[in-house]
Amino acid sequence: MAKIVLLENIHPSAVEVFSAAGFTDITTHASALPADALRDALQGATAVGIRSRTHLDARILEGLPDLRVIGCFCIGTNQVDLATAMEQGVPVFNAPFSNTRSVAELVLAEAILLLRRIPEKNLRVHQGHWDKSATGAYEARGKTLGIIGYGNIGSQVGILAEALGMRVIFHDVEAKLPLGNAKAYPDLSALLAESDVVTLHVPGGRSTQNIINEATLSQMKRGAILINASRGTVVDIDALRAALDAGLLRGAALDVFPVEPKSVDEPLKSPLIGLPNVILTPHIGGSTVESQENIGKEVAAKLARFLSNGTTKGAVNFPELPHQELSGTARIVHVHRNEPGALATLNAVFAERKINIVSQLLQTKGPIGYVLTDIGNPADPALMDALCKLPITVRCDLL
Ligand code: NAI
Repeated sequence: MAKIVLLENIHPSAVEVFSAAGFTDITTHASALPADALRDALQGATAVGIRSRTHLDARILEGLPDLRVIGCFCIGTNQVDLATAMEQGVPVFNAPFSNTRSVAELVLAEAILLLRRIPEKNLRVHQGHWDKSATGAYEARGKTLGIIGYGNIGSQVGILAEALGMRVIFHDVEAKLPLGNAKAYPDLSALLAESDVVTLHVPGGRSTQNIINEATLSQMKRGAILINASRGTVVDIDALRAALDAGLLRGAALDVFPVEPKSVDEPLKSPLIGLPNVILTPHIGGSTVESQENIGKEVAAKLARFLSNGTTKGAVNFPELPHQELSGTARIVHVHRNEPGALATLNAVFAERKINIVSQLLQTKGPIGYVLTDIGNPADPALMDALCKLPITVRCDLL
């Protein structure tokens, strides 16, 4: 029976999913553990669930021979040595979509608040002023929203914005199917020139570094609003500050920063601190109770499917095989070094024992190959032993 260890206070929805799938040996820990305690806690674990604070580096992974699968109950997977996990035949899963809607809602809320100048008005009321003027306060209806990066989050923002009566245009480096009445703008400067609100939903990395800079800010419509809840490296913050000071932009909302504080009590250092027309949030775009619950469900379901069926669809470091019901009497999971003739070597073992293969799926990725074989005969220990002892074998299990 699989032994599952969950760290870092993963939402109880994960335990519910595991239990419903028949996995009952589950240990939960409320926080991340220091290295020694972590090693002890993971001994004998078949499946491990972590969030962003637990680092599964090569040394930890190499000390876990029973480990079959890792679940990152979050979006990022940098905290796991993915290459080592792969070489050990351990797929890693995450939850890339569970907080999409949470980010989209925050972006829309910020667009409305900034269009109405609420951050400034809120501050003024707290300071004892009662300025009821409508000057500079606009409805979202009829305004143009420019989305840069029309992926999971960008496209959801577009759908919500249309429900408010906004006109939605987007720019993406890839051809994307426009949802609703959204319109693709291959030319970024045309999008910037027409948008009342510009929102960024691109990945990080060199190709998107400072795509909002002095030059692109100067192409924006005068009095527009900029929102960034994607990655901190996408906006040149000094250039943004200058554009706000010059009155080129009406306001901005930022959830992500080039350098972010590492702990609760560390203050953010940014040239934008203190500006009344700028909303600053501590990278919480995706942090809602619902998203945590969704993450618990989504990742636990992926781990349960892998443990029950060998399905690796959605794994971030592994050959992906889709879900398929068992079509024989037993399913054998085989991870091998990706070498010419590997499948022939494997199948020779079945042939020698006169075992009929009912169904077989193979996929390779980098240094490893992954095969699910459904056989018509019962799998005896001698067969498993022979498969495990093949020189190409990384890992071999009977499900
Ligand atoms: P995604 O991968 O689904 O979409 C990204 C889109 O950007 C893709 O369509 C891609 O083709 C496009 N793109 C890439 N380079 C581009 C460029 N130079 N110009 C225009 N388009 C470009 O990603 P998803 O899930 O929508 O996430 C978007 C961003 O949001 C990511 O950076 C992610 O890290 C961030 N994020 C932030 C959260 C928060 O708490 N603030 C929570 C979740 C995600």
